[in-house]
Parts: sequence; structure tokens; C-alpha cells
Amino acid sequence: LSYVPGLENIPAAETYISTIDTDVGKIWIRGFSLEDLALQSTYEEVLYLLIHGTLPDFETLSSFRRNIYDEWHVPQEIWDIVNMLPRDIHPMDILRTAISALAGFDRELDDPSHEANIRKAVRLVAKTGFLVGNLENMAKGGIRVFSRDLSHAANILQAIIERPAQNWEARAFETAFILYVEHELAASTFASRVIASTMTDIYGAVCGAISALKGPLHGGANEKALEVFQYDVAGAERFVRERLAARERIMGFGHRVYRRGIDPRAQVMKDILAELCRRHGDDRLYRVAVRVEEIMAAEKGLYPNLDFYVAPVYKLLGIPVKLFTPIFAASRMAGWCAHVIEQQLANRLFRPRAIYRGARGSSYPSRN
Ligand code: SDX
Repeated sequence: LSYVPGLENIPAAETYISTIDTDVGKIWIRGFSLEDLALQSTYEEVLYLLIHGTLPDFETLSSFRRNIYDEWHVPQEIWDIVNMLPRDIHPMDILRTAISALAGFDRELDDPSHEANIRKAVRLVAKTGFLVGNLENMAKGGIRVFSRDLSHAANILQAIIERPAQNWEARAFETAFILYVEHELAASTFASRVIASTMTDIYGAVCGAISALKGPLHGGANEKALEVFQYDVAGAERFVRERLAARERIMGFGHRVYRRGIDPRAQVMKDILAELCRRHGDDRLYRVAVRVEEIMAAEKGLYPNLDFYVAPVYKLLGIPVKLFTPIFAASRMAGWCAHVIEQQLANRLFRPRAIYRGARGSSYPSRN
């Protein structure tokens, strides 16, 4: 019984969905490179690939796209419920509440069949995207409808920035959105599989995943990664060195799996940041990023993960920082659902042991 804290490097599942191949610096999604999918595919096509296991032909993708768009609708009761929440809570807490409440409106909630799970996965992905696009608008009383003439990701972006997106903005966002879609057994994905292994419903499994994702060591890092970008290069250098001297973390750096180099997803976003800076005619964000990378590599031997480069890209797209992690959740909903579906197709209840370090044989004091 050898215990490894955090199950570091311990396989906890077998899967056909994805793997992180650090030897070649690739993330394989059902055999395809995530980088190819992010740069050339659409989120709808990647969702189909994740939950069905193969790429769809043109006809199949067109009807699948319609299925997703038909499921954007969120019942008014959900908006009523989230409108009762305090105005200042974090959008991730609003999202978790909304998804949990949505379970009650899904007539197939407790149907564990593969076909029902696939339909529920499409509903969850569609509705989570619609919710995230409108979390801030809801507070202002103006839900923005999604257009069937735009992709799922482009609708989310336009609803958030409240204006038509330029084509290059929509493509940059769609690439980032696809890069977040699936990443093997991240803490939130592992959580969704453990919950699913009791054969509970998929909504409950993804509520656990959303809760895990909020943490600053996981998805919550992307909002915090933006901090260093408020400075110029010299200011950023001071900020990083002061934080490191105080033994504090620079969010957006380090990864449990990528130990010897940059997260390949971060490299894709780094190139996109360079392009967006060029279009904005201001390369400060890029220069700050490169300098912080140099310091973190030299001082800590740590490299950027996806969150570090997505943060300045989202800033240039006009996305409010509080929505960074909810957008991560809206994308990763596809990966979580794929893992829940796979877990429940060939299930084995997760029930590990713990190594007991406590006392034994204590005698209970008599009370008389
Ligand atoms: C995501 O799992 C996934 O795939 C997640 C994700 C996905 O797509 O699902 O990739 C998304 O969550 C990316 C990671 C985002 N998190 C952050 O950027 C938060 C900052 N990163 C760290 O907290 C940390 O690097 C983790 C959590 C990502 C990984 O941590 P580990 O493997 O548990 O490593 P560790 O915490 O044991 O740190 C090892 C050493 C420590 O130094 P010592 O205390 O031993 O001297 O490295 C240091 C840490 O202090 N360290 C950092 C650091 N990350 C680790 N020091 C400064 N800044 C950092 N960011």
C-alpha cells in the first residue's frame, strides 16, 4: 500500500478520450492533436468528437450543430433563481447554482442510458455556454439571445463583450475555447469521474467538477494570472521578484504534468497574443509576458501553462476578468461530459483506501 500525495503520476483511470504526451509535447484528443483542432476546427465539431469518438461528416455536423443551438434555451425559473443570489458573489458560484438547478428541468435526469447521457451532455454544453455568455448581462437585466448564424463560441464572446466581434477576435476566442476543452485527468475531470462512478446523474457529476475548477490552483488561476499584466516590463519584473521573495506563487506558471517545458497550449496562445498585440498596435502585454517567462524559468525552473497566455488575450478581447474561469468551465463542460459518459459505459465504483495514521484501541472514559 504505497501512498502518493495528490496521486502524482498515478493512473486513476483508463480512457480513450485524451492523453498528455509530454515526450512529444502533444495533447491527443481521440487521436487528433489539440493544437490542430484549436487552430482548424470548431468547438461544435470537437464536442461531437469528444462524446461520439469520431469526427462527424458534413451532414452529421450540420444536424449536430442544430441540436446544440436548440438547447441554448435556459428556463426563466433558472434566471429567477440566480437573480435571488447576492449581487456580489463570484460568477462561478452563480454558474454552479444554475447548473444544479437545471438538473430539475431535465426530464431525462435519472435515465443512465448512454443515449440519454449523450443528449444531456449536449444540453449541458449548450446551456452552460448560454449562461456564461449572459452571467454579467443577467445582472443588468438584459439577456442577449444567441444567433444561429454564429458559432457557439462566437455567440458566447459577443454576448460577453456586448458588440459584434471582428472575425479575427472570434477566431482567437474560438481557438482559446477549444484549447480549454479537455486535458486528461485534471482535478475537476477526476472529480466528475468519481461522482459519476456511483451512477448518479451527469448534472451532479459536473457540479462537482465546476466546484473543483473554481480553485486558484486549477481554473481559478486564469483570473489571477492577469495581475502581472497591469504593469510595464520593469514593474512586472519587480512584482514577480517580490512575490517570489515572499515565497508566493505567480499564477499561470507550473503544472503537475508539464515539468520540463511550456504547456503546448500556452505556446499556441502566445502566438495569438503576439498577433492581437500587433492588431492593437501595442506590444506591451507581449513584452511583459516574455520577461515574466524568462524570470520564472531562470528563478524557479517553471514554465507557463495555458492560463498565463489566455489572460492577456481575454483582456485584449474585452472580457471581464471575473468571467475567465466561467469561460473555462463552459469549454471544459464537453470534456467533463465525455469522461462521465465513458465512466458510466464501463463503470467501476471509485473506492480507494486511506492509510490510517491515527490511534487505535483508545479506551472510552466511563461517565459514571
Ligand atoms: C490548470 O491538471 C490540469 O491539467 C489543469 C489544467 C487543465 O487544463 O485542466 O492544465 C488547468 O489548472 C493549469 C494550472 C493553473 N494553476 C496555476 O497556474 C496556479 C499556480 N500553479 C501552481 O499552484 C502549481 O504549479 C500547480 C498547482 C499547477 C502544480 O503544482 P504541483 O505539481 O502540486 O507542484 P507544487 O505545488 O508541489 O510546487 C512545486 C514547487 C513548490 O516549491 P517548494 O515549495 O517545493 O519550494 O514549485 C513551486 C512550489 O512552491 N511552485 C511555484 C508555482 N507553482 C509551483 N512557485 C511560484 N509560482 C508558481 N506558480
